[in-house]
Amino acid sequence: MSKFLDSLKKRRSIYGLGRNTDLSNEEIETIIKDAVKNSPSAFNSQTSRVVFLFGEANQKLWEITEETLKPLTPAEFFPNTQAKLAGFAAGIGTALFFEDTDVVANLQEQFPLYADNFPDWSEQSTGIAAVNAWVALAEANIGANLQHYNPVIDEKVAAEFDIPDSWNLRGQLVFGSIEAPAGEKDFMNDADRFKSFN
Ligand SMILES: Cc1cc2nc3c(=O)[nH]c(=O)nc-3n(C[C@H](O)[C@H](O)[C@H](O)COP(=O)(O)O)c2cc1C
Repeated sequence: MSKFLDSLKKRRSIYGLGRNTDLSNEEIETIIKDAVKNSPSAFNSQTSRVVFLFGEANQKLWEITEETLKPLTPAEFFPNTQAKLAGFAAGIGTALFFEDTDVVANLQEQFPLYADNFPDWSEQSTGIAAVNAWVALAEANIGANLQHYNPVIDEKVAAEFDIPDSWNLRGQLVFGSIEAPAGEKDFMNDADRFKSFN
């Protein structure tokens, strides 16, 4: 009935990713850019920033993550971690989602009445932008999952990809062709979640 709701339902966390698609990197980038640009932000502050990693750059990201996690992960769990990271590297690319903290600080100065709200609104903005990109990719039959290896990878990522100091890494949207379906998903009871007064 609703194409929009169909697309929302199509968006799942897809971990079985590959590179079997007719879409070019540029086309995928355009989908994500459109989704991010058309996402709302507090006072239209447009705090979200995105870095696209394809090919070798994407491999480098997951190598950096692996070498960063190694000393932090108990040895017996590390093979699992490595397998998971290899799954991300098997995709087409990763969109790194940042928030520009300079913009947030300027807003706090400009509008002292809302100063406490701007960091929360920035967090909400990155979530909105990321999920809109995720849904838009799903609509184009591109699978994705959302990772959060920040803050442990922040320094190395910033050095490798020339990230401005004020950009704060908030998430990694990993994408590729859908090689395995999403797992089963449970929904809690509507009665415990929604209230309606008529
Ligand atoms: C704010 C947020 C943080 C998340 N962080 C991670 C994450 O770090 N790693 C991961 O694999 N999935 C992460 N997810 C995905 C959720 O686990 C997933 O959306 C949820 O289990 C529902 O499954 P679905 O995405 O297939 O609908 C995150 C989702 C949200 C909204």
